[in-house]
Amino acid sequence: VKVNVSQPVADIQPTMWGVFFEDINFGADGGIYAEMVKNRSFEFYRPLMGWSVQGKKNTEGTILVENRQEKDTRNPRFLRVATNNTNKGDLGLTNEGFRGMGIKNGLRYDFSVMYRTQASNAKLHVELLNAKGEPIGQTTLPLNQSDNNWHKQAVSFNATATEPKGKMNVWFEGTGVIDLDMISLFPEDTWKKRPGGMRADMIQMLADMKPGFVRFPGGCIVEGFDLDQRYQWKKTIGPLEERQLVINRWNFEFAHRPTPDYFQTFGLGFFEYFQLCEDIGAEPLPILNCGMACQFNTAELVPLEQLDPYVQDAVDLIEFANGDASTPWGKVRASLGHPKPFNLKLLGVGNENWGPQYIDRLAIFQKAIKAKYPDMKLVCSSGTDPNGERFDYLNGKLRDMKADLIDEHYYRRPEWFLENARRYDNYDRNGSKIFAGEWAAQSDKTVSVNNKNNWLCALSEAAFMTGLERNAAVVNMASYAPLFANADAWQWTPDLIWVDNLRVYGTPNYYVQKLYSLNKGTHTLKMTQNNEPLAGQDSLYASAAWDKATSEVILKVANVSDKTQTRQIQLDGAKKLDPKGKLTLLKNDNLDAVNSFENATNVSPVDQTIPVDARKKTVALTLAPKSFSVVR
Ligand code: AHR
Repeated sequence: VKVNVSQPVADIQPTMWGVFFEDINFGADGGIYAEMVKNRSFEFYRPLMGWSVQGKKNTEGTILVENRQEKDTRNPRFLRVATNNTNKGDLGLTNEGFRGMGIKNGLRYDFSVMYRTQASNAKLHVELLNAKGEPIGQTTLPLNQSDNNWHKQAVSFNATATEPKGKMNVWFEGTGVIDLDMISLFPEDTWKKRPGGMRADMIQMLADMKPGFVRFPGGCIVEGFDLDQRYQWKKTIGPLEERQLVINRWNFEFAHRPTPDYFQTFGLGFFEYFQLCEDIGAEPLPILNCGMACQFNTAELVPLEQLDPYVQDAVDLIEFANGDASTPWGKVRASLGHPKPFNLKLLGVGNENWGPQYIDRLAIFQKAIKAKYPDMKLVCSSGTDPNGERFDYLNGKLRDMKADLIDEHYYRRPEWFLENARRYDNYDRNGSKIFAGEWAAQSDKTVSVNNKNNWLCALSEAAFMTGLERNAAVVNMASYAPLFANADAWQWTPDLIWVDNLRVYGTPNYYVQKLYSLNKGTHTLKMTQNNEPLAGQDSLYASAAWDKATSEVILKVANVSDKTQTRQIQLDGAKKLDPKGKLTLLKNDNLDAVNSFENATNVSPVDQTIPVDARKKTVALTLAPKSFSVVR
């Protein structure tokens, strides 16, 4: 096998390997958003979803939910508690959390609430409970202001035990009416210790991948089950109590395990997503609704002549991200604590949209955005049918429109990934580039609840990705999907990273993605066996890259066969070689092997040193059966 080291073929974009984030499988609420209280503002479909009323039988007191719809359309409901000489244990509420609350011994918890009262002696008693209902942390919060105006008050306390399925009690003390809203609990150990922030262990998994981009906020939630429930970024910024929640589109029939208590509270909104990208050094890639609801459900469309507000949202988003503080939306960003621009370069219009309706709408967006921001790269959808007519139609149209990036999705069987390792070998290098925006090998079938993140799927993805890398001249971005799943509340499998309330583990697929991202290189190199790319011969799939920054050659080889294979790699044109190379090996003899909470690194990479013949400029590779090797 020859690698031509002296003549790099094409640039590998810094954005090549990224992540796709969506609030599916409790990805945001109940996932990376570290809020522990479910339905903190009583706006879920049933006002007391997630809450249960506690108290002694003959307590004189009531708990009601009031609705100030006329005055506040964004956060209309609040809790009205009538107390009468009430003490701790007489009247209260329990919050069940998102499939329980993960509580850690010794950790500080920050409780906060908005309240309004005239009672001078009103107090809240907050208790964390273990699964048996025993207290494992408590505090008291006197409600200091009795002027009958809304106030926010907070108190912190420490947990005294670890519990994966905890709960929280709030007991009411006093005499008089106490109104309450936005009852919230966050752990101290959020990402970057930001109050009200994200779950650090989950974000660390992303940071460790060093992704080139983060695509957000989805997925189908961008489109919405209907247009009313589409994702609207302007409703996700600013004070939390003003962010109007919507029912999560993954509550509905397309979800194979519907969770009726799944809402998007937008505690995590566009500002936080941009901030996350900045934190982990990834390019932000927001995707916006194009005036079409999810085509797998309704085909609800905005008439072309009424598309303006949608287009305006896109234009304003660019100003929000990049404008200076003298611009209206730049000023909003600055007021949220980020005077510097976020430097947005990529913007998606539409998720999985298709048909002439999509093209018509996209054309309007494209014209308006390019007129004001000619350098903004637009990501355009080509849907979910990578070998079908719908795809051909869109691909043709999008190329005619000079789309910057075409977003292809493929959720297919492992065989498809092997068969498609040469998918991009003959793609036109001129014009539109490819964003392989959502894909994952399906061990059973697409959106089957039986799909597993097994080694077969991960290995076939590793093999396929050699083809993406080899074709970096046309494939500029790629991301596996979906990213996160809560083991107790998922709707879609397979997923890259699984979590419960206290734990997180990466799947074999995660390690494949991470290996590609951490061994990206800056240029592709020609790698051939008998003048052909190594893409399936003897079940070997390979690609080669050059890393300009470190002067290293990087080889990636997937051996999908069940036999050990050897290959002598000739590094043609290499000037000087280190006699030692580094091999990172990901392998398992069992194609059905998976990782789990209990065995999180069952399939995970191991490093070793291998000899390089610096004089002959060769390296001999012994490729283990069912393995993926990365050699530097
Ligand atoms: O990744 C899960 C879903 O798959 C996404 O929301 C959608 O874009 C695709 O159909």
